[in-house]
Amino acid sequence: MGSVVVVGAQWGDEGKGKVVDRYGERADWVVRYQGGNNAGHTLVVDGETTILHLVPSGILHERVKCAIGNGVVVDPEILLKELEKLDKRGIKTAGRLFVSYGAHLIMPYHRRLDLAREAYRGVDKIGTTGRGIGPAYEDKIARRGVRVADLLDRARVDGLVRSRLKELNAILAANDDHVPYPDAEITQMIDRAVELGERLRPYMANVGERLYQDQRAGKNLLFEGAQGALLDIDHGTYPFVTSSNTVASNAATGAGLGPGVLQNVVGIMKAYTTRVGSGPFPTELNDALGERLRETGKEFGATTGRPRRCGWLDLVALRYAVRICGIKEVAVTKLDVLAGLDELKVCTEYRLGNERLCTFPDNVHDLDRVEPVYKSFPGFGEVGATRRVEDLPAAARTYLDFVTQDLGVKVALLSVGPGRGQDIEVHNPFE
Ligand code: GDP
Ligand code: IMO
Ligand code: MG
Repeated sequence: MGSVVVVGAQWGDEGKGKVVDRYGERADWVVRYQGGNNAGHTLVVDGETTILHLVPSGILHERVKCAIGNGVVVDPEILLKELEKLDKRGIKTAGRLFVSYGAHLIMPYHRRLDLAREAYRGVDKIGTTGRGIGPAYEDKIARRGVRVADLLDRARVDGLVRSRLKELNAILAANDDHVPYPDAEITQMIDRAVELGERLRPYMANVGERLYQDQRAGKNLLFEGAQGALLDIDHGTYPFVTSSNTVASNAATGAGLGPGVLQNVVGIMKAYTTRVGSGPFPTELNDALGERLRETGKEFGATTGRPRRCGWLDLVALRYAVRICGIKEVAVTKLDVLAGLDELKVCTEYRLGNERLCTFPDNVHDLDRVEPVYKSFPGFGEVGATRRVEDLPAAARTYLDFVTQDLGVKVALLSVGPGRGQDIEVHNPFE
C-alpha cells in the first residue's frame, strides 16, 4: 500500500511507459504531473504497440483511474485525438480520465513560437520536440497562461488570447517569423479553444482533492514522470533541458499534494544511455558501437522519430539522478539490447584536466570538457527469455550488481524486452 513515483533517471525514453503499465496492475491511480506531449511513452501489450503522449500509461488497465495533474501542459487538440484513438480501440476513458482545472494549455501560438525560436537559434538550438512546451511553461510562470478552467468561459479565453497575441505578434517578428496573426485567425483560434473546452468538460476535475481523498483511504497512487532527471529545468544540463521540473519531488506539486505522500521513488534507467536533441553527453558513442545500440535498441524517438544518440552507461550522471530524485529503487530496462556484445563499459568517473570527478559537476560547462573514465565488464548472451534473476548469465549479474551497489539502490525490476511480461521482478515497490 502506498504511493510510488516512477521517474526517468537519464535523459528520457528509459522505458517509463512500459514500467508504469507493469505497475499499473497494482495502482488505483496513475498520475502525470509534469511535461506535456513532448513525452512519448510506449506500451507493447500482446504484440500491439500504444504510444501515449498525454494520457497516463495506466489507461490499458480497465480498473485504473488516470489523472493529468496541474503541473502538466495540455495541448487540447492532442489530448482529444489521443482519447478518440483509444476509444476506437474500445478503451474507455470517460469516467476514468481526469484533467486538472489548473493545468495550463498549449495554444497554437506556443507551438509556432517553439519552432520559430528553434529555427532562429541556429547552431545552439536545443532540439526541442516542437510541441510548444517551453513557450507554454513560460506563459505559466509569467502569469499570462490559459488554463483548462478558462476554457469554460469564452470571455476569459478571448481576453487572455487577444492580449497575449498583441505582444506575441511583435515577438514573432523578432524571431524572423514576420507574419503576425491576423484578426480573423485570432477569432478562429478562440472559437476553436472554446469548442475543445466543451469536449473536454466531462474530463475536468479537482484532481488534487480526488487523489488526496483516495490516498487517505489507502488507495495506491502511481506517479508517472515524463522526460528524465537530466532534462530537469533546474538540475539538468541547462539550457539543453525541458521546461519543467522532471525530478520526483515535483510529483507532489504537479498533482496538488504534499511531499509526504511520496513514499517510494523508482528510477527507470536503461542498461546504457540515450539522449535526443542537443546538449552534453559524456559517454556518447559516435561510432559503429553507437550505431549498433541504436539499431538493436530501436532507438528512434517515440514522439518525433528522431534517431537517439547512444552511449555507455554513465554512473556519474546516475549518482546525480539518485540524489536529485531521491531514487530508492531502480528498474533497469533494455538489458536484452546489450546481449551479444563482447565487452561492456561503465563510466565510473569523469576526467577534467588533472582532476577526477565522481560526482556530476555543479558547473554544467565543465561537462563540455570532461572525459569519461571507464570500467570494463565481460559481455553476456541472450537474456530476452529469462524470467528469474538466478537464470541470468553470471556476467549480466556482475554488471548489474556493480551498478546498483555503486548507486546504493535496490533493484525493483529488470526489463528484457519491450512487451508486457518481458521482465524480471525483484521487488514490489508498493510494499
Ligand atoms: P519512455 O519515454 O521512458 O516511456 O520510453 P519510450 O517508450 O520513449 O522508449 C523506450 C523504448 O524501448 C520503447 O520503444 C519501448 O517499447 C522499448 N523498451 C522498453 N523496455 C524495453 C526492454 O527491456 N527491451 C527492449 N528491447 N525494448 C524496451
Ligand atoms: P519521454 O517522456 C526524451 C528533450 C528534447 C529536447 C529537450 C527540450 O518520452 O522520456 P522540449 O520539447 O521538451 O522543449 O525539448 O528535451 N525531450 C525528451 N527527450 N524523452 C522525452 O520524453 C523528451 N521530452 C523532451 O528532445 O532535447
Ligand atoms: Mg519517450
